[in-house]
Amino acid sequence: MAGSVTDGVAVIVLDNPPVNGLGQALRTRVAEEIQAAVADGSVRAIVITGANGLFSGGADIREFNTPKASAEPTLHTLIRRVESCTKPVVAAIEGHCMGGGLELSLACHYRVARANAQVGLPEVKIGIIPGAGGTQRLPRAAGVETALNMIVSGNAVAAAKLADSGLFDEILDGDLREGAVAFAGRIADKRPLPRVRDRKATHPDAEAFFSFARMNVAAVSKNLPAPVKCVEAVAASVSKPFDEGIRYERELFLALIQSPESRALRHAFFAERAASKIADVPADTPIRPVQKVAVIGAGTMGGGIAMNFLNAGFPVTILETTEEALQRGVATIRRNYESSAKRGKLTAEDVEARMKLLWPTLLYDDIKDADLVIEAVFEEMGVKEKVFRQLDLAAKQGAILATNTSTLDVNKIASFTFRPQDVVGMHFFSPANVMKLLEVVRGDKTAKDVMATVMQLAKKIRKTAVVSGVCDGFIGNRMVEHYLRQALFLVEEGASPQHVDAALERFGMAMGPFRMSDLAGLDIGWAIRKRRYVEKPDVPYSRVADALCEQGRFGQKTGAGWYRYEPGKRDALPDPVVDKIVESYRAEKGVQPRRIDEDEIVGRCIYALVNEGARILEEGIAARASDIDLVYLTGYGFPVHRGGPMLYADMTGLYNVVGAMRGFAARSNVDAAFWQPAPLLARLAAEGKSFT
Ligand SMILES: NC(=O)c1ccc[n+]([C@@H]2O[C@H](COP(=O)([O-])OP(=O)(O)OC[C@H]3O[C@@H](n4cnc5c(N)ncnc54)[C@H](O)[C@@H]3O)[C@@H](O)[C@H]2O)c1
Repeated sequence: MAGSVTDGVAVIVLDNPPVNGLGQALRTRVAEEIQAAVADGSVRAIVITGANGLFSGGADIREFNTPKASAEPTLHTLIRRVESCTKPVVAAIEGHCMGGGLELSLACHYRVARANAQVGLPEVKIGIIPGAGGTQRLPRAAGVETALNMIVSGNAVAAAKLADSGLFDEILDGDLREGAVAFAGRIADKRPLPRVRDRKATHPDAEAFFSFARMNVAAVSKNLPAPVKCVEAVAASVSKPFDEGIRYERELFLALIQSPESRALRHAFFAERAASKIADVPADTPIRPVQKVAVIGAGTMGGGIAMNFLNAGFPVTILETTEEALQRGVATIRRNYESSAKRGKLTAEDVEARMKLLWPTLLYDDIKDADLVIEAVFEEMGVKEKVFRQLDLAAKQGAILATNTSTLDVNKIASFTFRPQDVVGMHFFSPANVMKLLEVVRGDKTAKDVMATVMQLAKKIRKTAVVSGVCDGFIGNRMVEHYLRQALFLVEEGASPQHVDAALERFGMAMGPFRMSDLAGLDIGWAIRKRRYVEKPDVPYSRVADALCEQGRFGQKTGAGWYRYEPGKRDALPDPVVDKIVESYRAEKGVQPRRIDEDEIVGRCIYALVNEGARILEEGIAARASDIDLVYLTGYGFPVHRGGPMLYADMTGLYNVVGAMRGFAARSNVDAAFWQPAPLLARLAAEGKSFT
């Protein structure tokens, strides 16, 4: 036979780098090798194990949406062959054993594993349930509660933690393959062959247990149907015979895979992978080594940025202009770490270890060894110029010089140096130590190896990096400006801020635009608008927010903005003073307030994002629609079950989106020009196509 035979045990190796995905070629080979092993009289038992240090990551995602995914032998066929094999089959598990990989191992007659192997059924994370028997076999093998937790959370669990669950026959030390072959030799002649399907899944109080689980899971997964279906499927493992349970699992699986929520989650999953690829920067582009980092400015952003690198073990030099600002910045970093320690997220030693990596300074000479310098000083071109001229003198040759600017021209900043190829934007979001999103802003002259290095570094500090071209606001803030502009118009025309927030929060936004503005500080938006009034006089803006700012209402930090805040609390409380300010603003402008329904609120705010997103796409500021979606999912609290603004538009149908926009244009006497669909959007809608 193909594979190797040792002491009467055939060893079949799952080998399909990088994660031994169960693609068609691999499935075919395993099916053939099983057949050969059965036919070979010298073989008494079979071991299935994985190459590359792991069992299998599950389905081969490269085959998603291709005919290969469902071509014979399917995973179901393979599972049937393994389970009905007349010679004992042993799964030998190390590294990851996920999804279809775990389902395959559950069809084996025996499972042995290394203690640190990680096993899990992560399907729920892409909006489906395990579809190859996992929901029926895992409860039978590992117990109902353990299986339910694993299937509903989708999280991997270490084999050692499952040692007593019944899932594994042995936890092995030493060489896995040798141990598994020895194990297979010991059980080779035992009959009947044990099958997980013949075990019973039981719970002493199944009814109460599952109704409690249903209630809890429904409460935490409100917009996502898959987690509750996971509970239903596991419940069926207790209440139904095996074959009926399998049919029920299939039914639920097929319904979920067609759900918009699953489409959205799969889109987000692939968006994340796609975003790390840059068309003209090949995967083998050399990387500049980055061992030491410097941050210029120890304010809100500088401190948070420094923490990202300290957390990942990089030594960080942080530079300020005054001793006082430096001390304040360092104290804030320490306070943040100490509060994490209080919440049990870090040990006291972790805090000290991280603080020890931080080197505060006032001297540019101290950054001369840094491989990466990130500037986070005041948002003024004059200040940026001064800093970059100094960096040009102080930083070593080949150092990457990054700016965290939110709005300024990265090309101009690069021009302050004699090495514009080394300059790039690294736009973190506040709080920088928490938010996942990092916009990597590629200047006209930014070198390819700088892009490759920064994208790789983003992974090390656990950020989701999305490449943006240079423009005012980059991808995220350029779009949000139009979203906020619509929100303000809605209030001017008759909606209350609470009404607008509630509509968008019901749509699924983590926070409505007015609560979000109060959190960010209304003075920030005011400063941007004041600039726009001059720079873009033909873009209409409602000035209703200015009326609040003029009264010193800057949001949470002043205890009053669109809402009022009790001292020390963050609950947004409706404020009659705001109603008065808005009413007198409307009266002054001669606006007759009208009732505005939720559909209009959501449509105008979300389609404002979509239309600007389309412009960003056609200008090449974003390389793909899914990059835009990723920015919104990871940086702006866009609901994950809708997959981002561009996918949402696709799922609504671009023809319908354009139709709604024409309706807004007809109604608005101030903003009709904005509601002209971006050319790309108009074209795709006319051709019946979509963004993604
Ligand atoms: N705050 C945000 O939400 C946010 C989000 C993304 C990006 N940004 C950008 O980050 C940058 C910093 O913003 P911030 O909110 O941290 O501001 P901040 O005012 O909190 O901090 C700026 C710090 O830079 C220091 N500084 C000023 N000039 C300096 C110089 N010449 N050399 C060294 N240090 C100097 C200041 O003393 C201050 O501590 C800006 O470009 C801003 O646009 C801010």
